[in-house]
Amino acid sequence: MSEIKPVVMTPDEKAREYAQSIAPAVSEKDGPLLHATKDMRRLATPWSVAIARASLLNNNEIPTGIVLDPACGSGTQLAAICTTLERPGIGVELSGSVAPMAAINIDNCGKWDGKKWSTSSRVLWGDGTNAKDVIETFTTQTSIDQQIAILHVDPARPNDAQKHTLDEMEPRLDVLLSAWAPFLKNGAALILDLSPRLSNKQREQVDQIVSEIWGDIMTTWQWMTQGRGRIDRLSLWVGTAACSQPNRLVRLSKSGEIHHLEGKNKTSQVSDDVVEIGEFLSIIDPCLIASGLAESWKEIATSGKSRWNTITGRRPILITSEPILLSYNELSIQKETYDMAHSFVQIKGEVVAHISTLDFESLSEITQIATKLGLSSLKIRCTVDPTIQPKLQSALDREMRQSCAENSTNLGFITEASNGYVICKEMGRDPA
Ligand SMILES: C[S@@+](CC[C@H](N)C(=O)[O-])C[C@H]1O[C@@H](n2cnc3c(N)ncnc32)[C@H](O)[C@@H]1O
Repeated sequence: MSEIKPVVMTPDEKAREYAQSIAPAVSEKDGPLLHATKDMRRLATPWSVAIARASLLNNNEIPTGIVLDPACGSGTQLAAICTTLERPGIGVELSGSVAPMAAINIDNCGKWDGKKWSTSSRVLWGDGTNAKDVIETFTTQTSIDQQIAILHVDPARPNDAQKHTLDEMEPRLDVLLSAWAPFLKNGAALILDLSPRLSNKQREQVDQIVSEIWGDIMTTWQWMTQGRGRIDRLSLWVGTAACSQPNRLVRLSKSGEIHHLEGKNKTSQVSDDVVEIGEFLSIIDPCLIASGLAESWKEIATSGKSRWNTITGRRPILITSEPILLSYNELSIQKETYDMAHSFVQIKGEVVAHISTLDFESLSEITQIATKLGLSSLKIRCTVDPTIQPKLQSALDREMRQSCAENSTNLGFITEASNGYVICKEMGRDPA
């Protein structure tokens, strides 16, 4: 495959007509107009995510030089890095139908931001592991003789990928990185975009590939979540792309706000101690556990005693002797740090009652307990059969509406703890 010489894709009128006919360009929010077929969109990074990730690169730390994406797909992530750092880019794409669209996307992005980087950027149709020919073709075409300072790669995973193993990636990471290592500038930044389902063992294999080529280089594993308690992206940031810590958890909100927490991997331990009335219970984002950063988060978010009641599943539970994250002034932390820590809390409150069952038969009793405690509503925050959950919640809402005092505004929730359920009085966040 690597014997085929790469071909430069020109974003001319003919290519534009072709792209428009098979995948009309669309823009996300205020982003550039981008072409992508349904298949390309399945693999592509959404513009808002691509821009958020690019903003985590520190341009000042990275040596001068160009950006390379040797398996660029739609070119969205490449364009986002180029526009954010104002550096020219090279994209290489193996598919002859995708490569022309990537070239138009890069050109559109350059027109959209009006900066110079795109005039010296090129997309090549070819094999991204064929480093020597790619560089030769690019240099001849643009007369730019700059080395590569940033390498981003998001290898394809076949549709039917079962195991999410490293061998399923196209191109293969070890082959690709060995091919490009001699063409990277000293101090280059690398982002390796991988399957969020990689196991710890597979992550170790990736670490090994990197250390076999670059030795004792700085690396940061980055977990990215867009909410819903799910890891949406897992990537390894290498060299000047790495931060000072080995792990980083990034939360990207719908409005494009980014929060990130950095630290060292630590295992959290669960305590069997019974959850007592008067203690404080917080359901946190399971991504904190997945990224090994739950202990780093706890150090910021809590004061007083704390213990984990559950660390598995969709609702890890932390029990504390004091309410958590009531105000950033009290915790003596910056508002930014407070917002970051709070973005990983699903819900929090004070434990006000124990209940043994949660079903249709027990709803009247639960409602009586809750209204006596001054609660006006109860959200179910536990594992209930999804076919029953909405009906159970509606029935509970109805009962609560009928029995709660008119002026009561205290919200509550029910969750699993101590081999049964607990009712908690919800606590909000610092309104400041
Ligand atoms: C996951 S997609 C990249 C998506 C991209 N980050 C985006 O934002 O659209 C991976 C791409 O790599 C391409 N690919 C696979 N093997 C390749 C190779 N040897 N050389 C170049 N591209 C390759 C696939 O055709 C696919 O378009």
